[in-house]
Amino acid sequence: MPAIVIIGAQWGDEGKGKATDLLGSRIDYVVKFNGGNNAGHTVVIGDEKYALHLLPSGILTDGVIPVIANGVVIDIEVLFEELDALIARGVDVSKLVVSANAHVITQYHRTLDKVTERFLGKRQIGTTGRGIGPSYADKINRVGIRIQDIFDENILRQKVEGALHSKNQLLVKLYNRRAITVDEIVDDLTSYAERLRPMVTDTGLLLNQALDAGKTVLFEGGQATMLDVDHGTYPFVTSSNSTSGGASTGSGIGPNRIERVIGIVKAYTTRVGAGPFPTELDDEWGEYLRAQGHEYGTTTGRPRRTGWYDAPIARYSARINGVTDFVMTKLDVLSGLEKIPVCVAYDVDGVRVEEVPVSQSDFHHAIPIYEDFPGWSEDITGARTFEDLPKNAQEYVLAIEAMSGARISAIGVGPGRDEIVVRHDLLG
Ligand code: GDP
Ligand code: IMO
Ligand code: MG
Repeated sequence: MPAIVIIGAQWGDEGKGKATDLLGSRIDYVVKFNGGNNAGHTVVIGDEKYALHLLPSGILTDGVIPVIANGVVIDIEVLFEELDALIARGVDVSKLVVSANAHVITQYHRTLDKVTERFLGKRQIGTTGRGIGPSYADKINRVGIRIQDIFDENILRQKVEGALHSKNQLLVKLYNRRAITVDEIVDDLTSYAERLRPMVTDTGLLLNQALDAGKTVLFEGGQATMLDVDHGTYPFVTSSNSTSGGASTGSGIGPNRIERVIGIVKAYTTRVGAGPFPTELDDEWGEYLRAQGHEYGTTTGRPRRTGWYDAPIARYSARINGVTDFVMTKLDVLSGLEKIPVCVAYDVDGVRVEEVPVSQSDFHHAIPIYEDFPGWSEDITGARTFEDLPKNAQEYVLAIEAMSGARISAIGVGPGRDEIVVRHDLLG
C-alpha cells in the first residue's frame, strides 16, 4: 500500500492519533507535512498518556520511521524538549528524520505572534502563540530560515540580518518591544546544529524511495480542513495547508502516490480560537459536551468551543480532501443523551442552503437546520463490532454516513488505543 493521508475534517482535535494507531504495525513511515507545535495530540496507550505537539503521533508506534517534512515549521528547542521527554519514557526516537528544507521558528516569530494578536484586539484569531503564522509568513515572503541554513553560519547570519532588518523596526517602533540582535538568534540556532545534523536529510528523496520500494507511508496532517489557509474559515485559520493536498507539497511526493485519504470527524464538533462555528452551543448542552468529552486544548489548555455535528462541513471536507474513509471519534461522549441533533443544512437569510456557503459573511450568520436522532443510554466503550453498538447508535452513524460524503470505516468509542469499532479495513 503506498501513501495514505490522515486529515482533520472539522476544526482540529478530532483525535487523529486514533486512526494512526489503528494502522499501527502496518505503517513503515509516518510523516508530519504541515504546521508545527500548534498541534496537540493526546494519545492514550494503556495507562500512559502522551501529549505531542511537534512530533507526529506515529512516533509512538514501534518500528516506524518518523519524518518531519519540508512543509513543517520547526521550533528546534521544542523539538528537543519533546524528544527528551519521550526518551525519558523509554520511547525509541532514534529513527527521526528532519527535512533540510523545513523552516524554523525563532524567538522573533514567537514574539511577533503574541504582539500582533494583542494589537488585533477584538479581531484576534486566537492563535496558539507559538510563532506559526509569522514563520510561514517569512517563508512566503522569502525571508525565512531553513533547517539547512543552520549548518552554514555565514549564510545563516546574512539571512537573520535580512529578516531582522524590518522586524526590529516593527518591534521597536510599532510594538514598543526591545530589538532582537542577530547574534542572539544565530547563537541560539547554531547551538542546536550538532545534535540536529545527523537527523537532517532530503526527506523528499527518502519518501519517494520508500514508496518505490513498496513501503507504506502515512501522512499525518496537523490542524484540519476548516483551519486550512486556502479552504478554511479565513482569516480564522492556521497558516498552512492542512488539507490532503498539503501532504504532497509539504513532503515532495506526487499527488498520484496517495491512494487513501482518511478524514477524522468527531461525532460532534469543537473549535479552539475565534471564527465562525454555526452549530456552536452556548448553553448547558455545550457545557455538557465539553465536560463529557474533556474538551480542553492539548496545546494551550483553553476550553474548546463545542457544538453538534455539522454534515455540510463533513461533505465539504470529503470533497476538498478526496476523503475515501471517515473515522468517527468520540461516539461514546454522546451516550446518555435523549436526542442528538445533527445539522443537515443552513438557513441563510431565510433560504435553505445545503452546502458550506462560499461567502464568509453568510457562513458567519448561517443558522443550522437540525434533524434530531434518538439517543442511547448504554455504555458503548466495550463495543468492538458495529453490531455491538446499540441500535440507535448504529442509526446515528448510518444517518451521518449518508450525509457526509464518504463511508465511515471506524468509530472511536473511548480514548484508549483499542477502543474502536472497525467496519472497513482502512488499507483494504
Ligand atoms: P488531534 O489534535 O486530532 O490529535 O486530537 P487531540 O489529541 O487534540 O484531541 C482528541 C482527544 O480525544 C484526545 O484526548 C484523545 O485521547 C481523545 N479521543 C480520541 N478518540 C476518542 C474516542 O473515541 N472517545 C473518547 N472519549 N476520546 C477519544
Ligand atoms: P491539532 O493538530 C485546534 C487554531 C488556533 C487558532 C488558529 C490559528 O491539535 O488539531 P496558529 O497558532 O496555528 O496560528 O492558530 O488555529 N489551531 C488549532 N485548533 N487544533 C489544532 O491542531 C490547532 N492548531 C491551530 O486555536 O484558532
Ligand atoms: Mg489537538
